[in-house]
Amino acid sequence: MKKIKVMSVFGTRPEAIKMAPLVQTLAQRPEFESICCLTGQHREMLDSVMQIFRLTAQYDLNIMQKQQTLSSITTRALLGMEQALQEAQPDLVLVHGDTSTTFAGALAAFYQKVPVGHVEAGLRTYDRYSPFPEEMNRTLVSDIAALHFAPTSANVDNLRRESVQGEIFRTGNTVIDAMRTTVRPDYRFATAELNELDFKSRRVIVLTCHRRENYGQPMHDILRAVRDVAERYEDVEIVYPVHLSPAVRACAQEELGGVPHVHLIDPVDVEEMHNLMARCCFVMTDSGGLQEEAPALGKPVLVLRRETERPEAVAAGTVRLAGVAHDDVLREVCTLLDDPAAYHRMAHAVNPYGDGHACERIADAIAWHFGLRAERPADFDPAG
Ligand code: UD1
Ligand code: UDP
Repeated sequence: MKKIKVMSVFGTRPEAIKMAPLVQTLAQRPEFESICCLTGQHREMLDSVMQIFRLTAQYDLNIMQKQQTLSSITTRALLGMEQALQEAQPDLVLVHGDTSTTFAGALAAFYQKVPVGHVEAGLRTYDRYSPFPEEMNRTLVSDIAALHFAPTSANVDNLRRESVQGEIFRTGNTVIDAMRTTVRPDYRFATAELNELDFKSRRVIVLTCHRRENYGQPMHDILRAVRDVAERYEDVEIVYPVHLSPAVRACAQEELGGVPHVHLIDPVDVEEMHNLMARCCFVMTDSGGLQEEAPALGKPVLVLRRETERPEAVAAGTVRLAGVAHDDVLREVCTLLDDPAAYHRMAHAVNPYGDGHACERIADAIAWHFGLRAERPADFDPAG
């Protein structure tokens, strides 16, 4: 049997975390030859994921620059991908989500007439500038892809409404697969500052904030609200693993540097992060991935954005849109800290995003598409 050669292309931390279990699944199955092409849009934050999941890359374009712009990421990735694709000659390219790597990877594959599978397809806000540039990236990739692996039924509905070409599969999100191996009750943190935290007598809030559309005033406003929380509540500790982006680090340092009970730490590896979330009181974030992970762990999430492309956990009551204005963010945090009933209404585990078997469904769908499997895989059912 000729193996299907699948090239997985990724370059940033969230793509790597969500593609890692899929790459592992493909590598274990006899139908596939699985290879990885890293763009290297991120470096330290990407390498950390590769190590945790013990992945090796056949290609590494190493494109990251300190002050990279959207154009520089896209052009450097596109040019590097051309050579990698011509050499590797894959049968299918897999891209994930909505980063500049995702868009450049899909476009490069299209230029070589290699079909594209889009993992985490169909998320939308329908506001082209928010999240920026992610909404445009994922919309453009939907036009390129032949196979769409949509996590939820709302994502499938978006793609159907847009009449995208190709096959659509409802798979669940691969991040829930990743969490099956990362979250452990007996886990000990490698970061000393996290081991020193008293999770029993202190209320630990996990914070991340890095999105491009929050750069400038919104990020300053959000972080000023965080400072007010730290100053107002005696029993609260706020842990903020600060993204390596210079714009984010400057803002975090300016607003929160030296503030008592605020722990500005370097990005932690994904096992640290998942186990930190599993032990915290609640999460404040503008990240996409955390909105999927924290609900699975039964942790309330305040989203530091005006909209979300992940409405499922909002509907389930575990995620709330807090916005980006100082007073709104402060009010939402105070409600969670002051009102036990409000907290308990949000703190229950829900899994609208996956059941831990997304990667098997995606592998089955690819095998079916290439004629190596008779049946189309059954869709992910959050109720089942
Ligand atoms: C990128 C994605 C965003 C995703 C985010 C996840 C785009 C346009 N943006 O945004 O969708 O949510 O990743 O984190 O694709 N840096 C390092 N080391 C690293 C990583 C980043 O030093 O390991 C610094 C570099 O100075 C780099 C800067 O961070 O220039 C910004 O990285 P970039 O990938 O351009 O933007 P992100 O905000 O990370
Ligand atoms: N994460 C991590 N270390 C950190 C912060 C986040 O491993 O210090 C993980 C987090 O658990 C999630 C992913 O990184 O799996 C989210 O990535 P990010 O917030 O960078 O991107 P987004 O989800 O917004 O695209």
